[in-house]
Amino acid sequence: MDSNNFSIGFFDSGVGGTSIWKEVITLLPNENTIYLSDSINAPYGEKSEEEIIALSIKNTEFLLKKNCKLIVVACNTATTNAITLLRNNYDIPFIGIEPAIRPAALTTKTNTIGILATKGTLNSRLFEETSSTIRKDIQIKETIGKGLVELIEGGKLNSKEMTFLLSSYLKPMIANNIDSLVLGCTHYPYLIPQIRKIVGSKIQIIDSGEAVAKQTKAVLSKNNLLNIDKEHEAKHQLYINKNKAALKNLLISIKDKNIEILERKF
Ligand code: DGL
Repeated sequence: MDSNNFSIGFFDSGVGGTSIWKEVITLLPNENTIYLSDSINAPYGEKSEEEIIALSIKNTEFLLKKNCKLIVVACNTATTNAITLLRNNYDIPFIGIEPAIRPAALTTKTNTIGILATKGTLNSRLFEETSSTIRKDIQIKETIGKGLVELIEGGKLNSKEMTFLLSSYLKPMIANNIDSLVLGCTHYPYLIPQIRKIVGSKIQIIDSGEAVAKQTKAVLSKNNLLNIDKEHEAKHQLYINKNKAALKNLLISIKDKNIEILERKF
């Protein structure tokens, strides 16, 4: 098979990376995809750098066995802890996702931006390096979204526990006069309706999904890997190693007969 027909691979600690996957399949409707939801090992954000690297390697190896032509690390925690090593060790292109604090810094008027992310992301060297490039008069209010990923993985998006946790994380940032809130975890875009209720209409909510999709297209194009066969009907396989229902519920609004959700060990 022509390598342009090979799939784009994705992995995340769980179902959250589908927020990126959706943007990619919308921008690139010709592309086959394989998505890995490593829900059994979620949350990655509470693990050590070594553990996150080992899991990222395991996921990459699985996707390479399936002949993926490019891998989107659809997880801020895995990107900030493991992408350099993945790029150094494997021959295919990797697209990562990092909290969008740079775009937020360009538009803030109050010179205060909030970021909600996992402990693993906020403590990573890559995040520290990116933060150090931000103008010194801009304050970054960092908050660990402890417990949010577990609730999303458990299908409790609209629960009382979720509202309670979100309020306790967001209200102190609002009190600190943030005007932009960066969502630094790919699970969090699923919480935008609840977050909007708490922060009101004036705070800008920023996530990186669209930018990652554009970057994926640019890198495929640069490497002559785009699937240019207009007749091709794209196929999508989503593997999850725990609780298939959580993934099904998140994707309920997508009506595509070529989406297959497989509950498997990997
Ligand atoms: N979606 C992952 C991220 O973007 C969640 C990490 C976790 O499992 O803690 O960081």
